[in-house]
Amino acid sequence: MPSHGDASWCARGAELLAEADALAHLGPRLDQIFERAQEKGLLGRATVPRREWVHAAAIAGGVADPGEGRCLDLGTGSGLFGLVMAACWPATRWVFTDRRLRSETFVSWAIGVLEMSARAAFVRGEVAALARAEALTGRFDLVVARAFASPAVTAECATGFLAVGGRLVVSEGEGSLADRWPAAPLRRLGLAVAATGAGPRFVELAKVAPQESRFPRRLAALQRVPLY
Ligand SMILES: C[S@@+](CC[C@H](N)C(=O)[O-])C[C@H]1O[C@@H](n2cnc3c(N)ncnc32)[C@H](O)[C@@H]1O
Repeated sequence: MPSHGDASWCARGAELLAEADALAHLGPRLDQIFERAQEKGLLGRATVPRREWVHAAAIAGGVADPGEGRCLDLGTGSGLFGLVMAACWPATRWVFTDRRLRSETFVSWAIGVLEMSARAAFVRGEVAALARAEALTGRFDLVVARAFASPAVTAECATGFLAVGGRLVVSEGEGSLADRWPAAPLRRLGLAVAATGAGPRFVELAKVAPQESRFPRRLAALQRVPLY
């Protein structure tokens, strides 16, 4: 799993404070939410909440606004980074996912603080199973992930949710993007790398074709025999 909680990763946030200005009206509420997440142990003690959400906002600033698109956050945790992206893009509609009840409880509260109840909902469950659920399969224009799982697991779960033409945006730590997102296995999922960002680091994949029908597999299979 990427080490997004460490200081070297979030230190970039300090260089990105201009992004906070774009969210000036919501900044105090995002501070409140992620400071509380830290108090509740949903964010590491060593992290600086404002740097974390500013970093997420900077990635939102580096990719195209999905307009009124349907978006989904894989493994939402405290709400980084889907909640911040939802704040950045006020027309988007969101589903936040996590298997943990404490994530559901916390993020449901945060949705209220940000007055997003009309366009955001939390669905608790195992993401690989949710990706195969009829109501969610192939329904999304954008899937986002930060510190969720390995690239192979992230891509396989995400493609289950994405419509052809949709996008997957993943916050990246260190490591070679070519090694983490190799073209041949991703092709079997219908995905191709479309863009990368360097400051802050992220990768954007486009869903260019339907995935092979066996994907996404159940979690046990997906973990036992990763696609790559
Ligand atoms: C390290 S946290 C990251 C949370 C958030 N995205 C962030 O960047 O702060 C990973 C989260 O993903 C959830 N998660 C991991 N694998 C999952 C799965 N297969 N199904 C549902 N939730 C999962 C965990 O419960 C946890 O809340």
